[in-house]
Amino acid sequence: MPADGDSEFDSPRTIDTIVEALRAGGHTVHLVEADEQLPRWFLTHRVDLVFNIAEGVHGEHREAQVPAILESLGVPFTGSGSVTMALALDKTKTKQVLASEGILTPPWQLFATPSAPLSSRLEFPLIVKPNREGSSKGIWRESVVGDEGSLRRQIAHVLSRYRQEALVEEFISGREITIGVIGDQALPVLEIDFSSCRTSGEFFYSWRMKEFQGDAAQGLAPVLRCPAPLDAGTTKRIQDVARRAHRALGCMDVSRTDIRLRHDGTPFVLEVNPLPGLSPWDSNFPAMTTSAGWSHPELIQRIVALAMSRYHQVHPAFPTSPAGGSGVHLQEPSSGTRADAATNEAQRGAAPSRPASLTSQGAP
Ligand SMILES: Nc1ncnc2c1ncn2[C@@H]1O[C@H](COP(=O)(O)OP(=O)(O)OP(=O)(O)O)[C@@H](O)[C@H]1O
Ligand SMILES: [Mg+2]
Repeated sequence: MPADGDSEFDSPRTIDTIVEALRAGGHTVHLVEADEQLPRWFLTHRVDLVFNIAEGVHGEHREAQVPAILESLGVPFTGSGSVTMALALDKTKTKQVLASEGILTPPWQLFATPSAPLSSRLEFPLIVKPNREGSSKGIWRESVVGDEGSLRRQIAHVLSRYRQEALVEEFISGREITIGVIGDQALPVLEIDFSSCRTSGEFFYSWRMKEFQGDAAQGLAPVLRCPAPLDAGTTKRIQDVARRAHRALGCMDVSRTDIRLRHDGTPFVLEVNPLPGLSPWDSNFPAMTTSAGWSHPELIQRIVALAMSRYHQVHPAFPTSPAGGSGVHLQEPSSGTRADAATNEAQRGAAPSRPASLTSQGAP
């Protein structure tokens, strides 16, 4: 497994914190490991709602696996459904959807072989990334290339090491922004400023930057600012783009959109994360809700409330707040299951087959 092989999974501490927040909200919580046994567990236990944080175990649609299982079993869950999860994990397909909605994304080309000719539309510097990874897996200082030779080496490296296509994009050298959406509300904009990271020479969110964030000696301590010091017009433009991207991909409850601002302030969307990390210590999404004035338990309970409200709209018998004994399930950090199935059931207008409960799993 490469050094970045397990970067997507949540830490036990983060899972414990989410469990505590759910219990504080009046729920009974069960942790469910999102592995091959997951369907069996849900066939033999009744739950009200799953708090889904499962990243999935393997495969190109891994984040969609738990939602798909829950959808098939009719179990309600928080967050996005299987189609959105699978789409968002494929950066190129995401960019196609964004572009079709008129949302700006860096010019790109997908390489299935290292020798395919480079499109004349693309100008160096470029960045080479695995097409279907998260947590900056496969993104290193060498991923930003300024000439044809380096480009070919990086494409070959991604193809062989990550066994998937290489996405080549124009490198947008402006400010780094990430922006969360919860419900249909855009959060305060978060800027990640890499200008002090001279020792590493990594002025972008590389895998090392995320994995060892805060290590100033290695040049891996970017400065986070939330709300970002931007003029009101640029802030509004970013928040509008994030809401549009959230809707374009069909995200439910939460998403986090990663953006680079061109030097003239134009936002370019890099990708949309429908399963943002919820660690109160390491993740960017909670940094934005903290800036908005919410505690971490409030964030977790808000996600539950949004999911319950969605189900309730379609099935009035579905509770809008935790009744005594309402069950919450949290999964271990290996794969993700239940939450999506019930959402789609609700959207289709089918009655939920069981009362709401919550399940989740760890993801960074
Ligand atoms: N076209 C680009 N221009 C400038 N920087 C980029 C570009 N693409 C990626 N990056 C840098 O690499 C980082 C990771 O890229 P990206 O968000 O596409 O990957 P990811 O692994 O899916 O991230 P996440 O952990 O958010 O899921 C970005 O946050 C940004 O710093
Ligand atoms: Mg990203």
